[in-house]
Amino acid sequence: MVDDRSILVTGAAGRLGSVGRTVTGLLLDRGFSVRAMVRREDERAASLRAAGAQVVVGDLLEPGDVYRVVRGCGRVYFGMSVSAGYLEATVTMAAVAREAGVNALVNMSQMTVSEMSIQNTTPSHQQRQHWLSEQTLAWSGLPVVTIRPTMFLESFLQLAAPSVRNRDRIELPFGRGKTSPVSAPDVAQVVAAVLADPVPHLGLIYELTGPKSQDLDEVAREFSEALSRRSRTPTSAPRSGNRS
Ligand SMILES: NC(=O)c1ccc[n+]([C@@H]2O[C@H](COP(=O)([O-])OP(=O)(O)OC[C@H]3O[C@@H](n4cnc5c(N)ncnc54)[C@H](OP(=O)(O)O)[C@@H]3O)[C@@H](O)[C@H]2O)c1
Repeated sequence: MVDDRSILVTGAAGRLGSVGRTVTGLLLDRGFSVRAMVRREDERAASLRAAGAQVVVGDLLEPGDVYRVVRGCGRVYFGMSVSAGYLEATVTMAAVAREAGVNALVNMSQMTVSEMSIQNTTPSHQQRQHWLSEQTLAWSGLPVVTIRPTMFLESFLQLAAPSVRNRDRIELPFGRGKTSPVSAPDVAQVVAAVLADPVPHLGLIYELTGPKSQDLDEVAREFSEALSRRSRTPTSAPRSGNRS
């Protein structure tokens, strides 16, 4: 017997985008009972508990832990840090969610998966794991909603910050590629809205982007304007990445 007002949020402690942590708060605000899964008892766990979540400690790579935290929850948000065991964790979650009778599983994926297929894959291990994870969840027959965001703005800022701070340059290996980072709290808003009322969304894929797709030169112009600073390095001597 599962309870649809009881929602499991994995990866709830939060490290990078903290989507799980934000989703936990948004669902508590809406009056849901939230089981927040963390890896360890620490100050992040304590603050989730203080906010009203039922904090559960476990490892997404341990089937017994996953069964213990999923059991009884009607809805699940599945997201965890980029790591080698991502696919294994997804398969474990799928097996457990089927066994436990979960009614809706919101899966955090990546925008790149939209461009991937059997014939067209990427060298990135993580992107392949997300593609395979989506395949697995589709085969599982579970009621899944897929969220595919572009790069989180918070990740972009974290990566760009050191060279902007130290050299007034953005040094990232994007070449001429364009990106449209999306704010992780905005992604969390979407996840929470879906979890609050999943039925109309089941089987759908949501691709989430920022407002504007631009290359790093354009991004650098915005940084320069916002910071009132220009590149200190001559633009004729780039070694790699793009310049600010
Ligand atoms: N960052 C981006 O730009 C971006 C863009 C698009 C999609 N995504 C996807 O978003 C997801 C990550 O989202 P996020 O930034 O919200 O994550 P996050 O803030 O880094 O939080 C992920 C949480 O997962 C927990 N975790 C890791 N391994 C675990 C395990 N074996 N068992 C239990 N918990 C585990 C971590 O716990 P600890 O903190 O204790 O280590 C962490 O708190 C990934 O699927 C990623 O591919 C990211």
